[in-house]
Amino acid sequence: MKIAVFASGTGSNFAAILESIKSKKITNVEVVLLVSDRPEALAVQKAKDERIPVHTFRAKDYPNKQAFEEEIVEKLRQRYVDFIVLAGYMRLLGPVLLQAYDRKIINVHPSLLPAFAGKDAIGQALDYGVKVTGVTVHYVDEGMDTGPIIAQRVVFVDSDETKDSLAKKIQGQEHQLLPEVIQMLVNSEAVKGSSK
Ligand code: GAR
Repeated sequence: MKIAVFASGTGSNFAAILESIKSKKITNVEVVLLVSDRPEALAVQKAKDERIPVHTFRAKDYPNKQAFEEEIVEKLRQRYVDFIVLAGYMRLLGPVLLQAYDRKIINVHPSLLPAFAGKDAIGQALDYGVKVTGVTVHYVDEGMDTGPIIAQRVVFVDSDETKDSLAKKIQGQEHQLLPEVIQMLVNSEAVKGSSK
């Protein structure tokens, strides 16, 4: 199964997927492309270090979302991508990508959705004062972190928790859960077949 990972940031989830493949924790999965809207992102450097093909772009260089998504779909098709993993890709997807990969796009989000959707979910949870938060992996639709939920993990918030300490705990869970869900979907063949 060929997957593309989309990332805008550090790429620790991207690295966790690669590590899970290397250590054979997950099998029958190949990352064939990293897509990033930030050419300077650490995730891009990680992909280059691992010799994984990269497609970068800047949204402002295109007239609209349709234009840069059409280019992305072309790159995905060239590499026969079966499904897409959003791992810290901080952009809403438009109809071009959603229709080309209908039900074949998943996202990892650092909260127990539907709580704390959108940006800075960890800060939102701390500000609210919740005692329990977590991680969600879900299918992607046109909304902000609204697609059907596939799996969740709970993280407890300690009384002396800081944003850094909570982020560390949450990311630790993400790095386990995301590869597990990828394996589950690959095994179930729910995501088999390249784009329409
Ligand atoms: C992850 O914590 C992911 O859950 C979050 O961005 C981080 C990316 O980290 N995604 C969202 O908030 C999406 N709404 P990484 O670049 O180190 O994998």
